[in-house]
Amino acid sequence: MQTVRLGRTNAPVSVVGLGCGGHSRLGMARGADAHHAASVVRRALDLGVSFIDTAPAYGTEEAVGKGIAGRRDQVFLSTKASPRRGGDRAPISAAELTESLEGSLRRLGTDHVDVFHLHGVPSGQYDHCAQVLVPEMKRQQAAGKIRFLGITEQFIGDTSHAMLPGALADDHFDVIMVGFNLVNPSARQRVFPLTRARDVGTLIMFAVRRQLSDPAALREAVADLIARGEVDGGQVDASDPLGFLRDHAGIGSVVEAAYRFCRHEPGAQVTLTGTGDVAHLEANLAAIQAPALPADVLERLMRLFGKVDSVSGN
Ligand SMILES: NC(=O)c1ccc[n+]([C@@H]2O[C@H](COP(=O)([O-])OP(=O)(O)OC[C@H]3O[C@@H](n4cnc5c(N)ncnc54)[C@H](OP(=O)(O)O)[C@@H]3O)[C@@H](O)[C@H]2O)c1
Repeated sequence: MQTVRLGRTNAPVSVVGLGCGGHSRLGMARGADAHHAASVVRRALDLGVSFIDTAPAYGTEEAVGKGIAGRRDQVFLSTKASPRRGGDRAPISAAELTESLEGSLRRLGTDHVDVFHLHGVPSGQYDHCAQVLVPEMKRQQAAGKIRFLGITEQFIGDTSHAMLPGALADDHFDVIMVGFNLVNPSARQRVFPLTRARDVGTLIMFAVRRQLSDPAALREAVADLIARGEVDGGQVDASDPLGFLRDHAGIGSVVEAAYRFCRHEPGAQVTLTGTGDVAHLEANLAAIQAPALPADVLERLMRLFGKVDSVSGN
């Protein structure tokens, strides 16, 4: 397994991160039980994955706990707390943040997490996070329950990365999670220069999601982008927008190309892959560790999608 230094955490972690949320939630979103989910985690560890991301909102922390039992020292473990309450969406207090952390530690079967994120923070909630929740995260860090502080954006609603630049300027966070994919590569200009300047670790989400794993979803998204003028309809085959990837002998599928695109982006460190399917996991590990896409493919992708910042790929 290829490894990368995760920014100023200095930790060497696998370039592949197992994402335990998204549309799959280790298969639990489609009815798989926690035993299956834990077996996906164990298989990932067996294959050398050392970065695992989960969150209370995903309902997978217990399964992750089962999967890493007896192997905690092999894992750089990432979980989160939502800055909003489940019911009324009101901002949570410092005490509620700590309650959330304690619940995560219990479900994960550990006494500390390696990175603890504020989960899916929209711009409008960032000030509360910085003023009320970050000081509490630092107290928990001093108590040894959190090694590093992190923040994740709400990419579905913040496709142009409005929140992260301010958070990075404040310099509270050692690690961030950012949406980046070949249809919306806008983090290249808006986020990675800032993380590189401050040596902040980067986790890439939305590499594939639905848009790049479902041809119908891709066609629909590209039709909308053409209609909005973000993609030049003269440059793209709207009935098969990424069909040209198949002309390259070395590219097996759109999903493979999508993970390779992220993995080799300067500034991108861990590429998350979310799946409940062990065959997909194995294929995705190979894709993320494959060489960069050919230069002509990268140029064509940038000609097509280089100006897009309005879709997440959800
Ligand atoms: N704001 C946030 O903090 C936030 C938001 C979203 C995600 N995340 C994190 O980022 C992680 C990654 O996001 P994601 O889970 O959406 O991951 P992703 O890797 O971009 O996309 C996963 C989707 O693609 C499918 N897929 C994966 N491999 C495939 C393959 N080889 N062939 C066909 N389909 C394939 C999966 O279905 P199968 O199960 O069928 O493989 C799943 O529906 C999440 O798991 C979560 O940890 C964080």
